Amino acid sequence: MTTRHGSAGRTLTAIVLAAGKGTRMRSALPKVLHAVAGRTMLGHVLTAAREAGAGRIAVVAEPGQAAVEAEVAAIAPGARVHPQAERLGTAHAVLAARDTLAEDADDVVVAFGDTPLVTAATLTRLRAPLAEGAAIAVLAFDTDRPTGYGRVLTQDGSVTAIREDKDATDEERRVGLCNAGLMALSGRHALAILDRIGNANAAGEYYLTDAVALAVAEGLSVAVVRVEEAEAQGVNDRVQLAVAEAEIQSRLRRAAQIGGATLVAPETVFLSVDTVLGQDVLVEPHVVFGPRVTVGDGCVIHAFSHLEGASLEPGVTIGPYARLRPGAVLETGSRVGNFVELKNTRLGAGAKANHLTYLGDSTVGAGANVGAGTITCNYDGVNKHRTSIGAGAFVGSNSALVAPVAVGAGAIVGAGSVVTADVPADGLAVARARQVNRPEGARLWRATKGLVRKPETKTHEKP
Ligand code: UD1
Ligand code: CA
Repeated sequence: MTTRHGSAGRTLTAIVLAAGKGTRMRSALPKVLHAVAGRTMLGHVLTAAREAGAGRIAVVAEPGQAAVEAEVAAIAPGARVHPQAERLGTAHAVLAARDTLAEDADDVVVAFGDTPLVTAATLTRLRAPLAEGAAIAVLAFDTDRPTGYGRVLTQDGSVTAIREDKDATDEERRVGLCNAGLMALSGRHALAILDRIGNANAAGEYYLTDAVALAVAEGLSVAVVRVEEAEAQGVNDRVQLAVAEAEIQSRLRRAAQIGGATLVAPETVFLSVDTVLGQDVLVEPHVVFGPRVTVGDGCVIHAFSHLEGASLEPGVTIGPYARLRPGAVLETGSRVGNFVELKNTRLGAGAKANHLTYLGDSTVGAGANVGAGTITCNYDGVNKHRTSIGAGAFVGSNSALVAPVAVGAGAIVGAGSVVTADVPADGLAVARARQVNRPEGARLWRATKGLVRKPETKTHEKP
């Protein structure tokens, strides 16, 4: 008898099936590269496999899909990619990884690249029966909407087969226990069973699910491990993609709240899997967190802000309507107000850019004040250039800082300036045409046109 934590010490190989465009997605992108919560579906599954302790990971993909290979390399470096030239079914796909299967493993888990919600904990639960002697464990869920899924057929409480929707009788179609697609196989039996799967079915495909009936016929034991329907969601079209997104978002929102962030209207806040929110962060309604955002303790994200690749130190306030793009780093206590965009910019501690501003490829020193409408002209049409604004500097409203340019510490730039040369520390730059006032000039101009000034109209006249 093995211990209750029977998987400890057993080696695990994960095979992730990712071939095929997924025709029902109607997309130029391979199905498994569609993203949910800022990470590709394939990325989610690979991450779960890694976290479940898979020492060996293999991905089966259509040959020549560089984007799929790049994603594998990024998320699971060292994972092997096996090409499946023809898409002949899920069993055929697993066998495309024959070279990996031939390398001994105690347990093999097959996961689908289009079932992104599955967690590492579930993969661990799925393989557990193998340590107790099962040859196969299938992951299943109960649903009242089983259409499209393979049905898990049982007799006297034991699994006998999985029947694909296309091949099922009317009676079998009424079965609500569905195959989530994931399967754990004992490494000892896997190849022998898979090699015996044929393709005599409605689709003419080699079904991985046929492994169940074959194992049962040989007197091997097959276990069913149940999972919540929400986690088993497969994605075959964009409607299901949105269902998966909604499920992941509710998980992420909940985790953020449990972690100490206030989401005033959680259903309007969109997070990425890697979003990090500190304690006592306040997120107002309608905020989008793209990938790679870290928010420190006590920050306030006002409504309608959009963040991506940004890092906020504690006590920062942004928005409403702030846009933080990749490379935005906001140091402690700095503030970004409405209609302000930051890209590849470091805003120093306590610095402010409160209204209608674009800061790109720049550094703003501690305590600097960037006035309304300030724009860094960082792009000359060919190259990007840097702007630096020193600590404690004051940039007057509606200034254009033409990069490369530096405003020294403590310097002042007069409103409406177009700054093309460096401003020395503590210097004052005014870079705009001097105003000219001509007394009576307006009256004289009108006279040349034969015009007179319109009488003042009263706006709140009584009838
Ligand atoms: C599959 C299961 C079904 C289950 C459902 C759960 C089989 C035969 N059917 O059906 O019982 O209820 O998932 O979502 O296993 N793939 C390849 N190569 C192939 C075929 C598929 O790599 O030749 C990959 C796909 O990229 C996809 C996954 O395997 O990620 C599943 O294939 P799909 O065609 O979506 O299977 P379903 O019809 O959804
Ligand atoms: Ca599917």
